[in-house]
Amino acid sequence: SEDGPAAAEVSESWTGPVGLAGTGHMAAGIAEAMVRSGREVRVLGRSAASAQRLHEVVAASLARQVSRGRLDEPTSQAVMARLEPVGNAAQLGEVDVVIEAVAEDIEVKLSVLRDLNDQLHHTVPIATNTSSYRVSDLRASVSPGRPVLALHFFNPAAVMKLVEVVVPEDVSAENPSLEERAHAWVRALGKTPVRCGDSRGFVVNRLLIPFLNDAVAAHATGRPAEEVDATLVEGAHHPMGPLALIDLIGIDVTVAALESMFEAEPEPRLRPHPLLTQMAATGELGRKSARGFYDYR
Ligand code: 3HC
Repeated sequence: SEDGPAAAEVSESWTGPVGLAGTGHMAAGIAEAMVRSGREVRVLGRSAASAQRLHEVVAASLARQVSRGRLDEPTSQAVMARLEPVGNAAQLGEVDVVIEAVAEDIEVKLSVLRDLNDQLHHTVPIATNTSSYRVSDLRASVSPGRPVLALHFFNPAAVMKLVEVVVPEDVSAENPSLEERAHAWVRALGKTPVRCGDSRGFVVNRLLIPFLNDAVAAHATGRPAEEVDATLVEGAHHPMGPLALIDLIGIDVTVAALESMFEAEPEPRLRPHPLLTQMAATGELGRKSARGFYDYR
């Protein structure tokens, strides 16, 4: 029947190994979420050494959980055994899906996606964790017919529940079960999938990032960071203030997201505040460089 192939496709849920390209903060959190939920993850870095460093970051995060008594040592070891650094895209082998979580720079993303596209079987879906590009902006690197989507996680990815799932309409038309499989896979991670349209910033960042930029403006006009943050924590019940959140996300990532959204929609609130671009230029990147709006040294 006409429903036959589609129905068969739906049952092919993603329960097998997953590829992950990227070794930064976001990639480490995504890797941790995946291995903790039972997925086997093959991590592709710029080099074998960078993939190995991600392995160490995840191990350190699990060790913290063990020291707090939230995880036992044998479980932690079993979880770590599911994380395998690989040296090149060909070594990803047979995976259900591969997630690209590299720098928020269009050229870097296009180059990594091209490599993944060249090395992976043409039926393997490639997902991007982009903060601010559209899935469609990244399709220049993949062959027509390749299933592509966004699976957008939030910082800290091991903890935050939401994953935005974006399947462009034409991809969905060609792969009727892709979206459903992606949602089921996200739920199996213990997270909540939400369907979003393919626009820059999707839903969360389109609302959140300009708000963070406004908080920088409030600080730049003379209010100490602690005070800006306290007003939102104590006045709006945010779990952390906006400037502390920028430090967590990364000042470079925040600037890149603003620039990308501003390019598509030149609205003043989306123009990166000069203080942010200056901090990015001087290497004050937030927690990852131990300096941002706060000092982490
Ligand atoms: N990795 C792993 N686990 C972590 C973690 C990390 N980086 N940070 C915290 N955790 C775990 C803790 O171990 C703890 O789990 P446990 O109870 O099992 O031990 C749990 O998370 C809660 O942590 P804490 O009690 O230490 O801290 P808080 O309760 O203060 O929560 C927070 C920390 C989750 C970061 C919270 O402050 C928060 O929700 N902040 C806002 C985060 C946010 O808005 N993120 C979205 C950013 S936008 C984005 O990422 C999009 C991108 O495209 C730019």
